[in-house]
Amino acid sequence: MANKIQSITGMSDILPDQVGLWQKLESKAHEIFSLYGYREIRTPLLEETQLFARGIGTETQVVSKEMYTFLDKGGDSVTLRPEGTAGVVRAFVQHSFAAQDPISKLYYFGPMFRYERPQKGRLRQFHQVGAELMGVDSPLADAEVVIMMDRWVRVLGITNYKLYVNSLGTNSEREVYLKNLIAYFETVKSQLGQEDRIRLEKNPLRIFDSKDEATQKLCAAAPKLIDSLGEQSRMEFETFKKALNIACVKFEINPFIVRGLDYYEKTTFEFVSSDLGSQSAFAGGGRYNKLVSELGGQETPCVGFAAGCERIVLLLEQLQSQSETTHPKSGVFLIPFDANCQSKCLELIQSLRDQGYRAEMDYEVKSLKSQMRRANKQNCRYAILLGADELQAGEVTLKDLESGEQKRVAFADILKSI
Ligand code: HAM
Repeated sequence: MANKIQSITGMSDILPDQVGLWQKLESKAHEIFSLYGYREIRTPLLEETQLFARGIGTETQVVSKEMYTFLDKGGDSVTLRPEGTAGVVRAFVQHSFAAQDPISKLYYFGPMFRYERPQKGRLRQFHQVGAELMGVDSPLADAEVVIMMDRWVRVLGITNYKLYVNSLGTNSEREVYLKNLIAYFETVKSQLGQEDRIRLEKNPLRIFDSKDEATQKLCAAAPKLIDSLGEQSRMEFETFKKALNIACVKFEINPFIVRGLDYYEKTTFEFVSSDLGSQSAFAGGGRYNKLVSELGGQETPCVGFAAGCERIVLLLEQLQSQSETTHPKSGVFLIPFDANCQSKCLELIQSLRDQGYRAEMDYEVKSLKSQMRRANKQNCRYAILLGADELQAGEVTLKDLESGEQKRVAFADILKSI
């Protein structure tokens, strides 16, 4: 026998038993997002490497360490998308969306790729549902995307989570702040690990993402951006919070929500759940007003988020196991006793399916016992048995697999009886 081929590390199959929750998550997103006026966009999985290098930032972990980048057969450097925002912005610029409508509300689903160390809730191919509101520079727009995300998870039945919000201020506020931050960390540099020292040099805000306990203590005492916002940014943050309160969305201010991608300014936020273990963030986003112009378009203020589907499915699985109910039996299983009866069963199965009933049968004629076993395994409500006797009488034996009762029914009356 040839060797079995396994899926690639960090890239999982979504098996039929799991697909139901994925479909639920997706259909609720379609339903809720359309209430807010968002329309779906589908962009390619593969993009020019430059798009992500320029869009997300070369010093970010995602771009510097995690991208699936390779030369295609034409010698061009291409990358499997590590996130959805850059591709949506590329499409927005390429198709001149802004010329058709100053405001675009877009959402997307699909696989993303990051070469990370796989663990529970962290994969190399994972899926995101994301939304972007482009063309509105208002904290009310920031609130809209957060409220929409919040409503979506609530409709899915998820309640055990926290929403953390923060403001990174404007670029110029951040520049002043970064000087203070660097000055602070320089004084405690000897206590920083190797990786955090590199962060201090290349991208000091990233120190807040550090998993090192000693660094985390230093972070707690570090100056916070939120305390050094200018008047305008502070007012905007207030308006944002007020809009969340009006929509009854609970949140906590968390000055450490700096996000792992470089394009953010002003509002940032993350949804986290203690039910997820160490990979606790199941969605995150914020405002990014420079990305469109950095990718060649007219400057356009944008805000958006993306949610990690695997993590949401983990939460849904926990809910399901808490309220596990047995699925009611449904559908019909047809059981011909011999090859002669098979043709009639084929005719009946087609008409049942055409009428909207789930109907199944074994195409190989097997023993009655084995076919009944299969009917039960398929969780069918009825079995239709057809032997020579029934065939001659123009009838079937209809067995209710829930009550065990059975009766003879004319071919023409089957639909009425089930
Ligand atoms: P992100 O925080 O990098 O943001 O990813 C969003 C979510 O995707 C995370 O909160 C997490 O749930 C999920 N996620 C990320 N990496 C993995 C992984 N390796 N395995 C499983 N799930 C993962 C973005 O991607 C931004 N584009 C969000 C955004 C949209 N900002 C503005 N608009």
